[in-house]
Amino acid sequence: MFPPDFAWGAATSAYQIEGGWQADGKGPSIWDTFSHEKGRVFGDQNGDVACNSYELWEKDLECIQQLGLTHYRLSLSWARLLPDGTTRHVNQKGVQYYNKVIDDLLASNVSPMVTLYHFDLPQALQDQGGWKSPGIASLFDSYAQFCFQTFGDRVKLWITINEPQVCAKVGHEDGIHAPGLKEKGTAAYLVGHNMLRAHAAAWHSYNSLYRPEQKGAVSLALNSDWYEPLNQGCTEDIAAAERDLAFTLGWFAWPVFVTGDYPEIMRSAINTQSKKLGYNGACRLPSFSNDDPAVLGTADFFALNYYTSRKVKPGGGCEQMLCMKADQDAEEVLDSSWPISGVSWLAVVPDGLRKLLKYIKDTFNDPAVLITENGFSQVGPLQIEDAQRSVHYKDTISEVAKAIHEDGVNVRGYFAWSLMDNFEWADGFSVRFGLFHVDFADSKRTRTLYQSGRDYAKIISKYKSGQSKLE
Ligand code: GAL
Repeated sequence: MFPPDFAWGAATSAYQIEGGWQADGKGPSIWDTFSHEKGRVFGDQNGDVACNSYELWEKDLECIQQLGLTHYRLSLSWARLLPDGTTRHVNQKGVQYYNKVIDDLLASNVSPMVTLYHFDLPQALQDQGGWKSPGIASLFDSYAQFCFQTFGDRVKLWITINEPQVCAKVGHEDGIHAPGLKEKGTAAYLVGHNMLRAHAAAWHSYNSLYRPEQKGAVSLALNSDWYEPLNQGCTEDIAAAERDLAFTLGWFAWPVFVTGDYPEIMRSAINTQSKKLGYNGACRLPSFSNDDPAVLGTADFFALNYYTSRKVKPGGGCEQMLCMKADQDAEEVLDSSWPISGVSWLAVVPDGLRKLLKYIKDTFNDPAVLITENGFSQVGPLQIEDAQRSVHYKDTISEVAKAIHEDGVNVRGYFAWSLMDNFEWADGFSVRFGLFHVDFADSKRTRTLYQSGRDYAKIISKYKSGQSKLE
């Protein structure tokens, strides 16, 4: 049984679905720039049109209604609202678009959860240093305040930043996401730091200026795999799994939920490795300054994106180089019993979510948790009868139920990733996460319900109507 007010949702993000990359005065984002460069994305694909949700929003709404969702998680394109990233110029067409989306959702009895930042920085701000520049925190705060002011009378659930760990590491260390930097061992920590500063500034603005009237809740969405030691009894493996958790989830969760600073495990690992190579660790992982708003306590709930699990032992290579991998000293392996979904990184491990939820309850002071993303990918020939994905959702949701009832975790909602197939970042359209299939060869971008969507709708309707058991 799930609580009667449990949020049953699905999620998307602006760049992945909207298209309209130049429509009606939108400014370019770093993903426009990045995907237009050769060799960055599978097949040199881009999100210029994607699902064309900018023109086809009503079709998305039909999908949402067909699933019977209680909540829909979308993100705002910063550059569609503020083309140069600043409030000096507001694009009214962008405001109208999101007003319509929000109003239509509410008229359909669906609550919007709105993410302010899902990987797509205005290019104009990247040109001034992007997330590496300390000034980004106050620019983000102004953008956030603009959004609270404009949409907060109707939006009650806010995510400031989606997956800061991925933005920082994959975008600035690995160079696989925009802005495509490979500044190993330094940029990601700085970017993560500025993202936390930006998030905290926005949360404080909401708390003092908007919450009294708007009465909503604000958090940031943190991604993490579940990491466990390769050999349960091996001290080195246990420590490696702890390091992996600290460098992924703890990096952002510790400052916000526990101490106002980075996990000690992370700081000492960076210091030790820096010393070996003759660097100053304190310059790599910054400290929070008293001049900034406090980061501790800046989340009204815990927003978790979970996809998969790993077994961990020490290692990972590149010990002689300045890089995050060497700091982290954790080699991740897959258990041979875990089935692999369409993409190689996504081993299907539903009970890893239950374990991670229990870890979150125990480590971060028993917060209310919303699972803001979880999903299953397909590649290769299209299968509308996607039985495997259906099983994935059923199994995962039953692990969430166990987390609630057997482990006492305060889980308040679950959002499937994704409402529909979309632009899957560096994998372009080759990887499909949707509950609806989207035909990208057809200018109408026809949406077709997968079996998994049909089954997810059944689960939702069963729980919404108060029935108790998953069959
Ligand atoms: C998350 C991301 C989503 C989606 C998903 C599947 O990291 O927030 O945008 O792409 O992964 O890979």
